[in-house]
Amino acid sequence: MNVFEKDQMYIAPTYKRFPLEIVRGAGSEVFDSQGKRYIDLGSGIAVTSFGVSDPLWQEAVIAQLGKVQHMSNLYYTEPCTELAEKLCLRTGMKKVFFSNSGAEANECAIKAARKWASDHYGPEKNIIVTMENSFHGRTLTTLAATGQDHYHELFQPLTPGFVSVPAGDPDALEKVIETGRVAGVLLECIQGEGGVLPLPADYIQTVAEWAKSRNYLFMVDEVQTGNGRTGELYSYMHFGVKPDVVSTAKGLAGGLPLGATLLGERVQDVFHFGDHGSTFGGNPVCCAAALSVLNRIDEALLSEVRSKGEYLRCQFENAPGVEAVSGLGLMLGLKTVRPASEVVTACMQNGVLCLTAKEKVRLLPALNIPFSLLAEAAEIILEACK
Ligand SMILES: Cc1ncc(COP(=O)(O)O)c(C=O)c1O
Repeated sequence: MNVFEKDQMYIAPTYKRFPLEIVRGAGSEVFDSQGKRYIDLGSGIAVTSFGVSDPLWQEAVIAQLGKVQHMSNLYYTEPCTELAEKLCLRTGMKKVFFSNSGAEANECAIKAARKWASDHYGPEKNIIVTMENSFHGRTLTTLAATGQDHYHELFQPLTPGFVSVPAGDPDALEKVIETGRVAGVLLECIQGEGGVLPLPADYIQTVAEWAKSRNYLFMVDEVQTGNGRTGELYSYMHFGVKPDVVSTAKGLAGGLPLGATLLGERVQDVFHFGDHGSTFGGNPVCCAAALSVLNRIDEALLSEVRSKGEYLRCQFENAPGVEAVSGLGLMLGLKTVRPASEVVTACMQNGVLCLTAKEKVRLLPALNIPFSLLAEAAEIILEACK
């Protein structure tokens, strides 16, 4: 049996895979089992921040592998504490909890909000408000947080205590807040899976401003938008707001599983011994990888991400077959005349890997993709959109 047949035989069919086996790569170029080259504009869905088999990333991972690959959280390891320090210094947050994925980073955010609200105001204050059309993960609790009914239908009953409101409508949010039961509001500044949809800046600012006076936590899901993706270290930084809780994962460790939940001043003391835990969370190899990623996301790189994003936007805006461009930095959505899935298939045939998000073509290239590859890929995408 070949890889496609074995996959069909042994893997639960939860993914609709393309008939493509990627066997190796370098940076933003990957190769299939037939030796065909592709320019990768998906980065494993915003994970490989510096592309595939990046030499500096590998060096950091291999060096840590040669020391210790795992220790339980009963002991200290340097990469874990170094990374926590770096994350706090760069965001002004105060404490970090490490996990292994975006869903788990959000689970921790939700637990933090519930416990914080219960500690300060009693157990009745336990509602988490999220946005319609949001995506926060696939565990039963983060599905409940996800404001898209079609994800919920087959898995009832979900964790109770979630209310989703239309993004951009402060009155709808206010109505829920008036119940006095809201522990936290969780949002993505740019809804990724929801179709690369930026939330209105004034709405994000209102949700942030109300948090203190109305006694809830302002929580930002930076799983997809984080770690340089939008041209700032975290996307909330575009909006002049200061979240109480930030969850992140995906690009943080550049291709190894790591989630992080950052706790700000109001919530820094929420967790005590035994309140939360994870066997693999804070794994030293993943943390060493993340340290190398974070150290490279400096102002020069962020400025490059912004100019590459602008460059792509200019290529696609008003181009034939493209109705609109959304997103920030290297997180872009193209509303195309042809169905997005057809565009993505045509691109793949012509050597470019891109993604869809709802009805859009979604581009999430590596942060260090060279302009020459962007130009080559843009030409192929434009041709596919016609
Ligand atoms: C905004 C957001 N939150 C959470 C998740 C879930 O992350 P993971 O698949 O690592 O659990 C995703 C994944 O796409 C995401 O885009």
